[in-house]
Amino acid sequence: MDSVIIIGFGVSGIASCRWALHFGFIPIVLETETTFGGCWLNKTYPGLKLQTTRYNYAFSDMEFTDSVSIYPTAGEVLNYLEKYIITYDLNKYVQYNSKVTHINYVDNMWHISYLLNNKKLDTKIAKYLIICSGFYTNTKNSIKKYVGHYYATDFKSLDHLKTVVIDKSVSVIGNGSTGIDMACFSVKNGAKTCRIFYKSPRFVVPRYFYGLSLHFLTMRIFLFIGKYISGFFCRLIILILGYVPYFSYLNKIKLPPENVNRYNIVINDDFYNLVIENHIDYINENVLEILNNGVRTTGGIYNSDVVIECVGYKNDISFLNLDNIPKLYKHILYPTMENMGFVGYCTSFNWCMVSDLQARWLFQYFKRKEKLSIYEINQWIGKYNINNKDYHDIAYSVYDYCDDLYLDIINSKHHIAPLSTYYSIVKYNTWRT
Ligand SMILES: Cc1cc2nc3c(=O)[nH]c(=O)nc-3n(C[C@H](O)[C@H](O)[C@H](O)COP(=O)(O)OP(=O)(O)OC[C@H]3O[C@@H](n4cnc5c(N)ncnc54)[C@H](O)[C@@H]3O)c2cc1C
Ligand SMILES: NC(=O)c1ccc[n+]([C@@H]2O[C@H](COP(=O)([O-])OP(=O)(O)OC[C@H]3O[C@@H](n4cnc5c(N)ncnc54)[C@H](OP(=O)(O)O)[C@@H]3O)[C@@H](O)[C@H]2O)c1
Repeated sequence: MDSVIIIGFGVSGIASCRWALHFGFIPIVLETETTFGGCWLNKTYPGLKLQTTRYNYAFSDMEFTDSVSIYPTAGEVLNYLEKYIITYDLNKYVQYNSKVTHINYVDNMWHISYLLNNKKLDTKIAKYLIICSGFYTNTKNSIKKYVGHYYATDFKSLDHLKTVVIDKSVSVIGNGSTGIDMACFSVKNGAKTCRIFYKSPRFVVPRYFYGLSLHFLTMRIFLFIGKYISGFFCRLIILILGYVPYFSYLNKIKLPPENVNRYNIVINDDFYNLVIENHIDYINENVLEILNNGVRTTGGIYNSDVVIECVGYKNDISFLNLDNIPKLYKHILYPTMENMGFVGYCTSFNWCMVSDLQARWLFQYFKRKEKLSIYEINQWIGKYNINNKDYHDIAYSVYDYCDDLYLDIINSKHHIAPLSTYYSIVKYNTWRT
């Protein structure tokens, strides 16, 4: 049996390990943390919930139990992953506290060097390699800071944030999902005042519209409309569903000038109520510096007791000697690297389903006798890349992408999406063989 080294044990590493065993490989997982979960372990904070539902965010062979909320909390996601790991007995293949530092391909074998317990450099060797180290590895560190009374974005230590914000003036930097959650969190936990500074406006949409869960918008029919009828129709739907309750206050809320895309939409249930009720000051200014006693922005200096920096993440694949995630065949294969692949490198609202399919696809590919040529791989990348704003974003075409991988897996050319799937929720087992 051939060995495969898997770097990372988040959603993608878990799926890869599970399918490695199924296809007869011996997995060796190297994970820098002390336990499983990836983002759900080390980027989490109080109140974090999935933006998509438990139907979309699940592996093909295990659904969430009915007792779990429709939009599971980070804790519920971790419980789900733990159950999956126990069911397939995956933990014994994982070496924790092992941070991969560099990789080499020598004599048709992958040599993976890693730091064990942050001290000892060690090496593992295997025929195959899968990179599952994730998009969101390190926090961005773009703002100049002075050491003072501020809180950087270290979400592992945020458990006691409640006690830190009580009766304090809080400034949050960034209006991504994290920043908006943090602002709401601060208000709900007794902050005296709360400001949020942002560069570009976003559509902020709640999970429910008068009690109706908006997850029906992830049906094929809506993604189909979003893909083919520009973003205008989506903008209209978002405006009707997200803003009707706040219509008379729209002057307080700056909306993005462009149509809806996955970068300008944030799901949050309380934000606009808190802005409208003046609990959150929503300020369109770029933060230039974090000072001892507040922030300096393009508009001036604002004093605050606590600054929470939520300016996003960058991925770190320095062990590959690459700055960015490269362009990949089907978002999986790197043209010039043999016997290796990437799992988890396309943004999607059903990450578990996608990583599950990618892992299955990749192991079948490893087993294939005839491998694709570099020319074929590059041809595909070139074709796919035309008119694609962000190559790794499959938001609108996510079901087409899943269908495509699935047809390869079952070795069929027939379209597998019956009409009924256009107007029903796509569930965890849609692409199960
Ligand atoms: C705060 C937050 C909330 C999110 N919410 C949603 C959501 O609601 N819906 C959704 O679809 N997606 C959401 N996402 C996106 C999320 O990234 C994916 O859903 C998914 O968890 C990614 O899994 P992954 O395994 O590919 O990557 P990760 O979860 O990032 O796992 C990568 C693993 O690799 C390890 N690793 C990295 N580098 C090394 C190295 N050099 N050596 C060894 N190990 C290494 C890391 O420690 C980590 O455990 C969210 C992301 C964040 C940050
Ligand atoms: N499930 C959930 O509820 C949840 C929660 C958190 C995160 N997530 C996911 O995790 C990923 C990361 O989200 P994130 O919110 O951490 O990061 P993000 O989406 O990258 O948002 C960071 C924000 O900070 C802004 N910013 C950067 N520098 C700034 C400055 N100097 N002054 C003012 N604003 C500044 C950026 O503005 P510009 O865009 O204009 O540069 C951006 O809007 C996303 O995929 C998100 O969906 C999900």
